[in-house]
Amino acid sequence: MELKDEVRSSFKRSHNLARKYYDCGDLPKARVEYLKCARFAEHLSELTPSKRKEFHERAEKFREIAEGLKVGDIKVYTDGIVPEEEMESSKRTAEDSEGREDRTKDLILAEKPSLKFKDIAGLDSVKERIKEAIVYPFRYPDEYRYFGVKGGGGILLYGPPGCGKTMLAAAAAGECDAVFINLKISDIKDKYVGESEKKIKDVFNLARGYERAIIFFDEIDALAGERSGSQEGHERSLVNELLSQMDGLEAKGTEKRYLVLAATNRPWDVDIALRRAGRFDTTVFIQHPDLPARKKIFEIGLTNKPCRVDVAELAAMTDGYASAEIVDICEKAAKIPLRERIKEGKPRREIVLVDFERVIAERKTVLSGWYPKAVRELTGTEEAGMFQELVEAGAGYISGG
Ligand SMILES: Nc1ncnc2c1ncn2[C@@H]1O[C@H](COP(=O)(O)OP(=O)(O)OP(=O)(O)O)[C@@H](O)[C@H]1O
Ligand SMILES: [Mg+2]
Repeated sequence: MELKDEVRSSFKRSHNLARKYYDCGDLPKARVEYLKCARFAEHLSELTPSKRKEFHERAEKFREIAEGLKVGDIKVYTDGIVPEEEMESSKRTAEDSEGREDRTKDLILAEKPSLKFKDIAGLDSVKERIKEAIVYPFRYPDEYRYFGVKGGGGILLYGPPGCGKTMLAAAAAGECDAVFINLKISDIKDKYVGESEKKIKDVFNLARGYERAIIFFDEIDALAGERSGSQEGHERSLVNELLSQMDGLEAKGTEKRYLVLAATNRPWDVDIALRRAGRFDTTVFIQHPDLPARKKIFEIGLTNKPCRVDVAELAAMTDGYASAEIVDICEKAAKIPLRERIKEGKPRREIVLVDFERVIAERKTVLSGWYPKAVRELTGTEEAGMFQELVEAGAGYISGG
C-alpha cells in the first residue's frame, strides 16, 4: 500500500472510532481520536498537493471539535498523538533515526488537566489514598522532608472498565497542578529491539522537563515480561528499563517532583516485577459506582439536558452498571425524544422515565461478564490475596446479583 493510502485508511479508522466514542459519551477517547484525525488530515494535506487546502481546513475543523471535547478545561501542552500506523509508515520512508525523538514526543499526550477529584463521583477512600501518596507530597514537600517521610512510589489502579481509572489519574495531576503524561503501553511497544526502551527513556526525559509531572501508563498489563514466551528477552528488558527509570526518578532531588501511575483492567496479567515493593507498591481498586456515586453520575450526565426525572430513581435502576455506561445511558435516553421530534415531528420537549427504562432494558452491563471472568482468573493464584477487593466486589455478580 502506498503511504498516502495507509494514512487515509488510518484517518478513516480514527474518524469512525471518534464518532463511536462520541456517540457513547466517552468524550476523552473521542477527543484523542479527533486529535489523531487532525494529524492525519495534516499529513494528507502534505501528501496531496492538489487538495492541500481542503485537508488543512479539515484538520482545523477536527482540532476545533477536539477542543470542544476537553474534560473540564484541559490546557494542551504537547498536542496530538501519532498512532502506531503512522509511526510504522514513517519508519519505512525514513529509516534513519533522525527526528525520532520528536516523533516519540508527538506520541505523548502531555497536558495540565483542570479535572479535580470533586468531578469524579464516589471513590472517596481511593481519593484519600491517592492524596496521601501523591497529592500531599506534592503540596507539602517541606513537611514531608521535615518528618523524613517519602511520598510517592508508584500506584497501580486496577478495576473494571469504564469506572474512572483514567479519570482519577488525570484528576490526581489536576489536584497538584502537575503535567499529566498519558500513554498506553501499546503506544510504546515497538517491534524493533531497543526502540521501545528508547521511547520509555523519552517519556521520562519529557517528564523531567517539567517542574511536576505524573506519568500515567495505561494498560500496563500489556507489558508482560514474566509471561511472554519467545519474546521474553525483549519484553523483559522493557520491564527493566521502566523499573530503572522509576528508580532514577526516586533518586532525584526533592524540588522537582515526578510520580508514576499505572492502570489495568487485567490485574492478573501485570508483571510481578512491577508490583514489588518500591515500584507499584500501592495497588488501588477502582470499583463500579455505588448508589450515591450513580446519582452523581446521572447528575453530571444530565447537565444541560431537559429532564426532571429523579436521579435517585435512575440510580436505583442501574445497580451494577459501570460509570461510563451510565453516562452513555443519559446520551441514549436523550436521543429518543430528539429523534421523535426531528423524524416524526412529535412535540415532546423532555426526557422522561420511560426513555431511561427503554435504554436500560436494552442494555446489559459489560461488568456482568467482566467480574466473573476476573474472579476466575484470580481464583487459586498467588495474586488472589493482593486483589481481594476485586474478588469481593465480584461476588455480587456471580451469585446472580
Ligand atoms: N467515577 C466517575 N465519575 C464520573 N464519571 C465517570 C466516573 N468513572 C467513569 N466516568 C465516565 O466514564 C468515562 C470513562 O472513564 P475512564 O476512562 O476513567 O474509565 P477507565 O476505568 O479508565 O476504563 P478502561 O479500563 O476502559 O480504561 C469517563 O470519561 C467519564 O465520563
Ligand atoms: Mg482507562
